[in-house]
Amino acid sequence: MEIIIEPDAAALAERASQVVFAELARKPDLVLGLATGKTPVGLYEKLRLKPDAFAQVRFFNLDEFFGLPPSDPTSFNYFLHFHLVQHVRHQEKNLHLLRGDVKDLEALSREVEESIKAVGGIDLQILGIGKNGHIGFNEPGSSLGSRTRPKTLEASTLAEYVKTLDPKAPVSNFAITMGVGTIMDARHLLLLASGSGKADIIREMVEGPITSEVPATCLQLHPRATVVLDEAAAAKLKRRDYYKWVFENKWRVGQK
Ligand code: PGA
Repeated sequence: MEIIIEPDAAALAERASQVVFAELARKPDLVLGLATGKTPVGLYEKLRLKPDAFAQVRFFNLDEFFGLPPSDPTSFNYFLHFHLVQHVRHQEKNLHLLRGDVKDLEALSREVEESIKAVGGIDLQILGIGKNGHIGFNEPGSSLGSRTRPKTLEASTLAEYVKTLDPKAPVSNFAITMGVGTIMDARHLLLLASGSGKADIIREMVEGPITSEVPATCLQLHPRATVVLDEAAAAKLKRRDYYKWVFENKWRVGQK
């Protein structure tokens, strides 16, 4: 995986937006997997600056709480409209964002896998990481080959969200998430992490053993994973200076 370390969250957002815009320049009808959480908000602010770039993009997303309609401000569907989709030119037929207000999450899971297949797979999947090492809602212990499915969240994961919500928000610990295997099928992964609270899990993800106890360690097996960190999130990496040196010198290879 390529590790890029930026001074702060603002520079991280800028760098991540360059990665997304480079993919869009290459393929205007990109199949783009979105993520929710605090971390990608800065990236979405940057992406909104070029609203026309998204006119042909096919949008998917990682996960959603069970039971919440897209109109509920707590839903991830609402979050993604609020922070990105409503600000950019897009076509309704290209929105494949999950909705939690379905009767049968198993059936929805199968449909998600089918619709990803129907568009030829995800080109670029944006990811955050939970402090417990989850990606999407793939909690520790998730099979590294798992597909989209209903999932029960750990109490700690739910507690992280509840802190940021209206205390009466109707969230439960049932959700739907793309599987680890589904995520690994994306052609390019872009994982973002910011702040000292993520330093321990980033160390495990990048330099620890691959294990389903830390689902994000699967990125070590991905042929094209870009990890953009700020200094605080990178602070505990053993080879931090080496990653910086590699990135700074990347474009000199082959040049005189
Ligand atoms: P965060 O969430 O960006 O709010 O830290 C990340 C995640 O849980 O995937």
